[in-house]
Amino acid sequence: MNREEALKIVDELVKNPNIKKHCLAAEAAMIGVYDYFESKGKANVGNRVDWGIVGLLHDADYEATNKDLERHTDLVTEKLQGRALQEVVDAIRGHADKVERKALMAKAIFAADELTGLIVAAALVRPDKKLEGLTPESVLKRMKEPAFARAVNRDDIKTCESELGIPLPEFVEIVLNSMKGVSKDLGL
Ligand SMILES: [Fe+2]
Repeated sequence: MNREEALKIVDELVKNPNIKKHCLAAEAAMIGVYDYFESKGKANVGNRVDWGIVGLLHDADYEATNKDLERHTDLVTEKLQGRALQEVVDAIRGHADKVERKALMAKAIFAADELTGLIVAAALVRPDKKLEGLTPESVLKRMKEPAFARAVNRDDIKTCESELGIPLPEFVEIVLNSMKGVSKDLGL
């Protein structure tokens, strides 16, 4: 599966522009984390495109299955059958606790998913509502305020340390910088 094919699935299943933006943010984050591991010479399952696809498709059926969240990721799994690496499917299913998160890419989407939400919320309360001037330090500060973006699960984000071995400040920097790289697509 290449990016164009994955984008086709997103366009087919996702009608809500905010969910599409979330998928694009997660794609950028996954590529950023992939590049981080590559630069450290850590063995990786899947290539840069595969990692991006995990981000792009992890919530692609969220709308289509939202009346029955038990089915979340099942529809995407069907669409990917025989067309993508099993690890890609497992990572997507793993973020919804459908299978154990074993590969780095599975652990990465789990930790990055919630962080992209926190970063969007942190950008939107800025006077310019843009990512550009947002610093990792201010994202970290927001993370420590329980009342800020209350729905964001901080514990999930912190698994970057326990599961990925990336210190939280560094993880925030990677994901924030990756999202800045696609800020136009995110409307931020
Ligand atoms: Fe998500």
